[in-house]
Amino acid sequence: MKPLHLSVNVDHIATLRQARGAPYPDPVEAAHVAETTGARGITVHLRGDRRHIQDSDVRRLRSTVRGKLNLEIAASDEMLGIALEVRPDQVTLVPERPDEVTTEGGLDVVRHPGPIRSAVRRLASADIAVSLFLDPDAEQLAALTTLDTEVIGFELNTDAYTRAVIRGDHGGDHPENDPGSIERELDKIREVAEQGAGQGLQVFAGHGLTTGNVGPVASLPQIEELNIGHWLVSRGAIVGLAQSVREMLDAMASARSE
Ligand code: PXP
Repeated sequence: MKPLHLSVNVDHIATLRQARGAPYPDPVEAAHVAETTGARGITVHLRGDRRHIQDSDVRRLRSTVRGKLNLEIAASDEMLGIALEVRPDQVTLVPERPDEVTTEGGLDVVRHPGPIRSAVRRLASADIAVSLFLDPDAEQLAALTTLDTEVIGFELNTDAYTRAVIRGDHGGDHPENDPGSIERELDKIREVAEQGAGQGLQVFAGHGLTTGNVGPVASLPQIEELNIGHWLVSRGAIVGLAQSVREMLDAMASARSE
């Protein structure tokens, strides 16, 4: 069985920073904490609207991240130019809509193979490993394998599975409750993971993963890496709050004792 690694997505550290236009919290500092705590690598998504990660963050991460730096980008000329200049260890191509809250689905390799093929070729010819973000759909994997490019693998979108867990399969009264949906979504992930790994592709997965839902995905032996961000940053804000409150109380007390 392949070892399972964690790539920590630090986008939402930058979301907090951008919300105030402050110099903190710094995604580079967060990346250092994540790596020294056991993450194999760091992921950031440089969006066209720069809503969280900035170009300068990607450059600073390039010179500070010791493990794998995975840059998520849309296959636009602008983003490909930045990737070719900064040279992350891996690029994950994702679809991007300007008004989406977060990445809404995988790439449609079936309908748009041309631009994806040419983006992969540009990156691969510069020796940058390329992965594609895919919904767990056998047709998308089949299209990927006929692209005739040097894709190293793909990241399976776990969004539908994690939403099924939220809706609850077990007699919950959520209006969208759909018994069996968790198993159905897991079956799709399992099937495409098995097929992809069988074809020699590396299989990654991510989106919406939490400690509460990661188990069935983490147990799939074909998956080599999970890409997790929002939950880690959210949980960090809660468990880290005790430390930051102590630091502030110390600073206030020492001001009074002077
Ligand atoms: N993988 C991809 C391609 C993503 O776009 C995202 C979200 O930025 C993630 C993984 C991580 O998802 P989450 O922040 O929900 O853990």
